[in-house]
Amino acid sequence: MKRILAGLISLSVLATGHEAEAASCKINVSYNKQFYKIEGLPIANKQYGMAKSYHPGANKTMIRSYQKMRAAALKKGIVLDVVGTPGAYGYRSYAVQKQLYNDYINLYGFSYASKISAKPGTSEHQLGLAMDIRDGTNYGTLNTAFEYTAASKFIRENGQRYGFIVRYLKGKEAITGFMYEPWHIRYVGVTHATRIKKDNITLEEYLGIAGRRKLSAGQYQVNGALCKYKR
Ligand code: DAL
Ligand code: ZN
Repeated sequence: MKRILAGLISLSVLATGHEAEAASCKINVSYNKQFYKIEGLPIANKQYGMAKSYHPGANKTMIRSYQKMRAAALKKGIVLDVVGTPGAYGYRSYAVQKQLYNDYINLYGFSYASKISAKPGTSEHQLGLAMDIRDGTNYGTLNTAFEYTAASKFIRENGQRYGFIVRYLKGKEAITGFMYEPWHIRYVGVTHATRIKKDNITLEEYLGIAGRRKLSAGQYQVNGALCKYKR
């Protein structure tokens, strides 16, 4: 009987095609006076900022995972390089992000600058959990042509095995608030990265915060893709 019921339920999900919508669950939002976490994942985006003084440097677990990913790519003759200060592994302090952001504003004006650069205090680079990757064999850097390189293909197809997601996806600009950035990878750990990659979604959609007002610390009912999984 149970099996028949389960079959009927999954059939109805298929019939409506609203599997993601059907999933609803509670998420935890916390703030430690430095940055926000949602379901334990540090978050930085246009809504969720961090303290100006938060200065963690690149996350050690992220660095180790990146080194493993780099070694695996190298075995296939693919060279991954991190853009930016050598040895910083993508880390940018508030002050560095501020400089960068202001430079972009001066170059392109506010509207375009805010689509390609995070306002100081809101960048995943300040969280220490993001890196910009380039293909070490052609040295082209930080433009969408990167997506045609072997390095880009490698991180797209294998990043999740090392806990990385491509954070600013093509066609998801309205959700992330940023233009497509095939080079910007975010460390979320293997479990989350595998699910996010499988669904081809953004971190916002995964957590269920896409299109919502900023949530302060607390518990909230959401419809994120993570609701499909037991926690
Ligand atoms: N380019 C990304 C959005 C950043 O500045 O963090
Ligand atoms: Zn980046």
